[in-house]
Amino acid sequence: MARITASVYCSHVPAIGAAIDLGKTEEPYWKPLFAGFDFSKKWIKEHLPDVILLVYNDHANAFSLDIVPTFAIGTAAEFQVADEGWGPRPVPNVIGHPDLASHIAQSVIQDDFDLTIVNKMEVDHGLTVPLNLMFGSPGAWPCRVIPFPVNVVLYPVPSGRRCLALGHALRKAITSYDEPLKVQVWGTGGMSHQLQGPRAGLINKKWDNEFLDRLIADPEAQAAVPHIEYVREAGSEGIELVMWLIARGAMSDKPPKVVHRFYHVPGSNTAIGNLILENQT
Ligand code: DHB
Ligand code: FE
Repeated sequence: MARITASVYCSHVPAIGAAIDLGKTEEPYWKPLFAGFDFSKKWIKEHLPDVILLVYNDHANAFSLDIVPTFAIGTAAEFQVADEGWGPRPVPNVIGHPDLASHIAQSVIQDDFDLTIVNKMEVDHGLTVPLNLMFGSPGAWPCRVIPFPVNVVLYPVPSGRRCLALGHALRKAITSYDEPLKVQVWGTGGMSHQLQGPRAGLINKKWDNEFLDRLIADPEAQAAVPHIEYVREAGSEGIELVMWLIARGAMSDKPPKVVHRFYHVPGSNTAIGNLILENQT
């Protein structure tokens, strides 16, 4: 059977992708941010999964605002990189796992989570930037990736409670797949940031760190926090953090091992977080 070995949590910002693509990672502004991922890059080389189920949000690139699925799963064999206005980023296409993705869709939909099935989709910075932060810039991504977009862009967005429960359903789905695959579930987006209006630039270090504490030790308590608190405390785009509860819900009920925790400001307009949790065997 497939096993969920670990979960990884990671922010995204298009400017991080641009810093990589334009060779600016050693500049004083970016250096400390990328240094925070040195351990993670080493760790993932030693703990390379067969497949990553990557929970992220699309930013009106794959889905225009004409159709916005709440939860979706990418079932394609390959996903191309979206053009977000400057041409597609020079990163490899994402190789999916149609068989596992179909199995997950079957299991999770029968467990009453109405996923949108996406057979063709381009992936934006929400997915490619976390891959770069964890893997650097290889010629091909070193494992398969199942994209799992969540709507945190157009209200109403799903609740933390629903996201944690979806994580539980994903755990059941993945661990019932009849092949001995090592699977990681990644929760991406966040941390606190607001890109618009009078509060643009808002960062809340205290709240972000309390979020991390609760995500690790008491995800049920974090899941009870209403979306309005994310917006009030972590900014309008801080709501991206609810996606981290999906990855957390996919972990075993036993307390996880905290392998790495990193928090950094600034990264463009965003507080950057990275957390690695291993399932205890
Ligand atoms: C920024 C952050 C985001 O989450 C995003 O999707 C776009 C931009 C930023 O900080 O610039
Ligand atoms: Fe974003």
